[in-house]
Amino acid sequence: MNSETERIRIQRSGPLSGEVTIPGAKNSVLKLMAATLLAEGEYTITNVPAIADVGIMSDLLCAIGVRSEMVEPGVLRMVNNGDITPVAPYELVERIRASINVLGPLLGRYGKVSLSMPGGDDFGSRPIDMHMKGLEAMGATFELRHGVVEATAERLHGAHVTLEFPSVGATENILTAAVHAKGTTVIDNAAREPEIADLCHFMVGMGAQIEGIGLSTLTIHGVEPGSMRATTHAVVADRIQAATYLAAVAVCGGEVTLRGARGEHMDMLLRRFHAMGLTITDVGDGLAIYAHDRLRSIDVATLPYPGIATDYKPLIVTMLTVADGVGIVTENLYPGRFRYVEELQRLGADIRADGHHAVVRGVPALSGAPVRAPDIRAGAALVVAGLAAEGETTVSGVHHVDRGYDDLVGRLRHLGATIDRLP
Ligand code: EPU
Repeated sequence: MNSETERIRIQRSGPLSGEVTIPGAKNSVLKLMAATLLAEGEYTITNVPAIADVGIMSDLLCAIGVRSEMVEPGVLRMVNNGDITPVAPYELVERIRASINVLGPLLGRYGKVSLSMPGGDDFGSRPIDMHMKGLEAMGATFELRHGVVEATAERLHGAHVTLEFPSVGATENILTAAVHAKGTTVIDNAAREPEIADLCHFMVGMGAQIEGIGLSTLTIHGVEPGSMRATTHAVVADRIQAATYLAAVAVCGGEVTLRGARGEHMDMLLRRFHAMGLTITDVGDGLAIYAHDRLRSIDVATLPYPGIATDYKPLIVTMLTVADGVGIVTENLYPGRFRYVEELQRLGADIRADGHHAVVRGVPALSGAPVRAPDIRAGAALVVAGLAAEGETTVSGVHHVDRGYDDLVGRLRHLGATIDRLP
């Protein structure tokens, strides 16, 4: 099937019931895959989500010299035999933001990287300045030629890097470069997302020496290039996919168990969901949600972890569209990340968005219509909106959803939603 032309068709649904297993996190597995550039050998990564971005990352790493194969559902075998060409070509880089994650491992291990910049003619405004500043402090030099970033370093050395902002990507690139640097690197104001802790645990399994995992100061004692080894690792559960099923139950009502979801990684979000009237409990190996009343509106602001993630925001806005009252949503990470608002308005939502803010006035029900997914998270939110909309909603731009969601449609149908894919 071709997800560029496919649509998801949804009818108003609910209440939902049963159990859903939460797959591994996109924003962890892609980084783990890039980290296989650090050491030769055969890796086994489990709990790998069936998402398009894993295939794109596999293609990129294959071009550099690491082969990957899904040996069974959820199990990815990767082989790095040391025959590495540290060049990331444009056709692959432009398809996936996480391709920037090959920079740190290649620079630290091979001292050289050639990475195409998507739209690289305006290098100054490309937001990888923090990645570069950190790596420069460790001895790297950068040059831009014909849209290609050429990074070189004889051998990186440890440094004290303070990030202006806890950037996920910059933290990861400095971290994956530092594991092979000479001496000790300290990253202050590091991003603390659970997916970064997952990457740290993966690299520790490979022989890296990292202290402060999960904290905002990371200390990395560099090891000799060639001394790290391949490993086996299970990808951390995806908190954004988990939140998507919570949002679905929130707007449809019902009682659902999310197997594998990690409540401790979603603490702030669960508190806000509680304030909206949802009952969510930790059941040891997952979360259980009970939703039987109309949601109450709340105000929400996105922040770096442990704050409310920007990736949750389209889901929260969708929940507010049918909640009782008025909610104000403030975006602190990406200005203008409100592109899906017009689509929600087509479904009858009452939202006013301006710059960093959206005011959402809850309506009793949305009304189904054709809408288009502008990106992964907004696409999933539109699917959730469709579950709460009278009549039929169709979501096009499904290829965005497939980039980060492992069988969203099948999982929702399993919970009792009326939803399918149209060719
Ligand atoms: N920024 C800079 N300069 C830098 C780096 C970042 O100005 O050198 C700015 C960015 O422009 C942005 C903010 O800092 O405004 C946050 O960027 P960050 O580096 O933290 O994000 P990222 O690594 O590019 C990852 C996820 C995003 C998620 C953000 C924030 C991946 C592949 N992407 O992006 O996930 O929204 O962190 O949590 O891990 C998604 O999965 O759909 C997605 C967009």
